[in-house]
Amino acid sequence: MAGSAVDPDGARRFMLTMRADGRSELFPGKVTETWGINVDHLGPVVRAKRGERVRMSVTNRLPEASTLHWHGLRLPARMDGGPHQMIEPGATWTPEWTIDQPAATAWFHPHPHGRTAMHVYRGLAGLFLIDEPGGPVLPHEYGVDDLPLIVQDRVFDGAEMAAGGVDSGTFGLLGDTILVNGTYRPFHEVTTESVRFRLLNASNARVYRVGFADGRRFDVIAGDQGMLPRPATVDRVKISPGERLEIVVRFVPGETVVMNSAGEPRKQANDIEEDDFDLVRFTAGATLRPSGRVAFDGPAVGSPPPGARVRRFELSGSEINGRDMEMSRIDEVVPAGAVEIWEIDNTTYAHNFHIHEVEFRILDVNGEPPPAYLAGPKDTVFVPKKARVRLLVRFGRYADPVTPYMYHCHLLRHEDKGMMGQFVIVEPGTEDLVPRVIPAGHHHD
Ligand code: C2O
Ligand code: CU
Ligand code: CU
Repeated sequence: MAGSAVDPDGARRFMLTMRADGRSELFPGKVTETWGINVDHLGPVVRAKRGERVRMSVTNRLPEASTLHWHGLRLPARMDGGPHQMIEPGATWTPEWTIDQPAATAWFHPHPHGRTAMHVYRGLAGLFLIDEPGGPVLPHEYGVDDLPLIVQDRVFDGAEMAAGGVDSGTFGLLGDTILVNGTYRPFHEVTTESVRFRLLNASNARVYRVGFADGRRFDVIAGDQGMLPRPATVDRVKISPGERLEIVVRFVPGETVVMNSAGEPRKQANDIEEDDFDLVRFTAGATLRPSGRVAFDGPAVGSPPPGARVRRFELSGSEINGRDMEMSRIDEVVPAGAVEIWEIDNTTYAHNFHIHEVEFRILDVNGEPPPAYLAGPKDTVFVPKKARVRLLVRFGRYADPVTPYMYHCHLLRHEDKGMMGQFVIVEPGTEDLVPRVIPAGHHHD
């Protein structure tokens, strides 16, 4: 957990330092060089409550410039940590904002244009948990019955992480070795009847289908940005890079069971490589502390307002609408508070699609409503090959005509290759007055 201090004005201050000198023991007796935020590998959990002001102090001790993006946070564009908020080596960036969104499992990672894949692969990623007083009663004892599971695939050359695949191939790196929370072959001892897992796929490209070796069913309670309309009982969930899912799993005393990932039975259904992996081995104690059943009613999906604006994004190869990302070009101008339909049309192989700042719901995938476990508020969605995905997108109210937010494929090689676009949120009625080119030399720190 990241330590924080409360400033005299009441803001909660977090100090984060990105460093490249981590030394981790992933394999017994061997040293692996890793990057980390405050720690040797990955980062601390940042945790804040709705309504709280947070003040970040992000120092770059890497040998190169980077950024730190708050993936899943609703905040002003200048605080977003995208490619326009570069932090030079040795410099410190100090964004602050007020947490104004429901309880969720969000995360943070670097976002330097063209270098994100490498920085995340080296180990720069951490969880950002948002709490909201007064929500449904859920397992919430961190480390006991509320456990994060950050899933990543790696390629090792001896004890060293091999990064050669990060910038090559159709999808970039697809590793053959799984790390969960930065640990190789993790196991965990369960002490309660139910455990809530916060799953984050922080892999560069790999898609997982998470379930249990014994086929047990479990409840999905939350998606990227918070609670589902109601728990969805499933035996597997698909999770693509950048997505989060919260699940509640029941255990019986004395058992051992493996959480795993199983490839799509229709092989190559999505043409992205899907392999079988063990993720975590659980052993349950001889007696387990009783847990209540999870039940709640969350916000419903809602339907598009009449006349909602539709924007269409065609994915082809690693381009969006036939273009590569251009740092000085504003692709879309959105009025503050808008609710729009974004239609993602994939003409080629599998991708996914992430939009900064917003909350969206999946309206349909190839005309069909998504499975119940994807009915919650989201910010990242898997887009199977040749599929059409329609999103109902709710935009925030922080207007800034000169600082863009990003939308992009979260397969990091694609993002780095330019499968990304930029939008600004502006005061309603000023859309046509906004320059589509970011003024030269315009930089926020
Ligand atoms: Cu997870 Cu644009 O980021
Ligand atoms: Cu993001
Ligand atoms: Cu892609």
